[in-house]
Amino acid sequence: MIIALDSGIGGASILKEVMENSFNNEFVYFADTMNSPYGNKSKKQIYEIVKKNVDYLSSKYKIDVLIVACNTATSVCAEKFRKIYNFPIIGVEPPIKVAIDRGNKNILVIATKQTIKTNMTLKKYISQKNADVTIELLPLKKLAKIIDKNVEDLDVVIPYLKHKLKNGKYDAIVLGCTHYNFIKKQIKQLFPNAEIISCESGVARNVKRICSNLKSQNHKLEILLSKKNLSIQNFLDNYFCNDFSRN
Ligand code: DGL
Repeated sequence: MIIALDSGIGGASILKEVMENSFNNEFVYFADTMNSPYGNKSKKQIYEIVKKNVDYLSSKYKIDVLIVACNTATSVCAEKFRKIYNFPIIGVEPPIKVAIDRGNKNILVIATKQTIKTNMTLKKYISQKNADVTIELLPLKKLAKIIDKNVEDLDVVIPYLKHKLKNGKYDAIVLGCTHYNFIKKQIKQLFPNAEIISCESGVARNVKRICSNLKSQNHKLEILLSKKNLSIQNFLDNYFCNDFSRN
């Protein structure tokens, strides 16, 4: 069983890419609608919430791979989880290396407050102090919540983005929160000249490598929400569409 978890819809963008690139397998998508958003919570709160979810999922399923499809949860929990659980844990990182390797000079990283504060990959690249490259880190405290609340009309993020991102001249905008993968169109509309860089394909390659020996008869997906939320449930049902048989 390949399981991906997040606070809301964000991680679905990761799991969908994984499903499209993997062999037949059984998948679970877990959206923690009861505790979302994670990004403004303390490290302790996030760790306890996500660990409880992983304990629940590992008691219910035989997990072959766990994808922590949330930058906030990855930043806070992934290293610790690797010491506790005996299944592979794949996290998601803001793809800042990709942005630098492609020669971008003026880079904006947007993510949740806790990711900006704790993410080790961001710390590493900021501390390298390359004089040619400017990296701006911008926490967007409300954006993940706005996205989860407005899945039927994601254009509502535009005024918030306009207000927060001002008119910066960026070569690249790095998405450090998986929720933001669903508003690439809106970001591009405001910054037509910037390259929008996200991590779905990198994670999918990683999962494919780790799961090369994992195959199942079926290609199946189960979607779980920790608290009933009809609009998110409908959004996820439609997003994963009819390509896969579902429980
Ligand atoms: N999708 C999330 C992330 O990648 C979680 C956002 C939130 O719950 O605040 O950080």
